[in-house]
Amino acid sequence: MLELKNISYRVGTPDGELEILKHIDLTIPDRELVVFTGPNGGGKTTLAKIIMGLVRPTEGQVLYHGEDVTELDITERARRGISYGFQQPPRFKGITVQTLLQLASGGEKLTKDRCCAYLTQVGLCANDYLDREVDTSLSGGEVKRIEIATVLARGSSLMIFDEPEAGIDLWSFARLTETFEQLHRRKEHTMIIISHQERIIRLADEIVVVSGGSITNRGSTEEIFPLILANTTGACPVIGRKERSE
Ligand SMILES: Nc1ncnc2c1ncn2[C@@H]1O[C@H](COP(=O)(O)OP(=O)(O)OP(=O)(O)O)[C@@H](O)[C@H]1O
Ligand SMILES: [Mg+2]
Repeated sequence: MLELKNISYRVGTPDGELEILKHIDLTIPDRELVVFTGPNGGGKTTLAKIIMGLVRPTEGQVLYHGEDVTELDITERARRGISYGFQQPPRFKGITVQTLLQLASGGEKLTKDRCCAYLTQVGLCANDYLDREVDTSLSGGEVKRIEIATVLARGSSLMIFDEPEAGIDLWSFARLTETFEQLHRRKEHTMIIISHQERIIRLADEIVVVSGGSITNRGSTEEIFPLILANTTGACPVIGRKERSE
């Protein structure tokens, strides 16, 4: 189980202090698929980075399997079974895709077949990519899919994917959605997927709406999705309802 307790994050700016996350409380049971959604700038990536240990909260605690991991860095959290696929993945000049997958898996030597399987799950043909360097010669969509494959290769108990759909073509996106669906059906991992995509949102056990640095709504897909769809021209009613009541 992942528990976020009273998480706040503030940064100093030339105009004073900016509150990016405000008193977030959230519990995610093991083996659930939870989608974080909400408007741009709402705080989803910051929250994911706080879970991964890339950003230290100003207040509050992160507990994973009952252990307080708030003070642990990214390496220590990775050891405890948390992994994160960046919204904008870094590139690694001089490292091939196969080596990156091997490093991610962390364990015994990955066979070529195993590497191929991870790449196939993100819609890439392994023969074309295994020996390529993860540098600027890869397109945005390619590097994004390789990043997702490395999270799959790591096989952590908690996998966080930050907008896996970003920059990915429709065919690959369909393949990726299937991969998430199959992973979820196996019930071996907890998944947090940050997404704006209906097909991913519909896979969720729970949707968490993050807006203005707060959780403004959460519930099952059946409860939340119709509210999002109800008003696609104006402000999201799910988000708006909370803002109006403040
Ligand atoms: N270190 C920082 N300094 C100043 N502002 C920051 C910092 N980190 C995040 N922000 C701001 O906090 C807000 C939340 O950012 P975040 O990246 O978490 O949003 P998001 O919900 O992931 O958005 P998107 O859907 O566009 O990816 C944004 O307005 C961002 O500009
Ligand atoms: Mg983001």
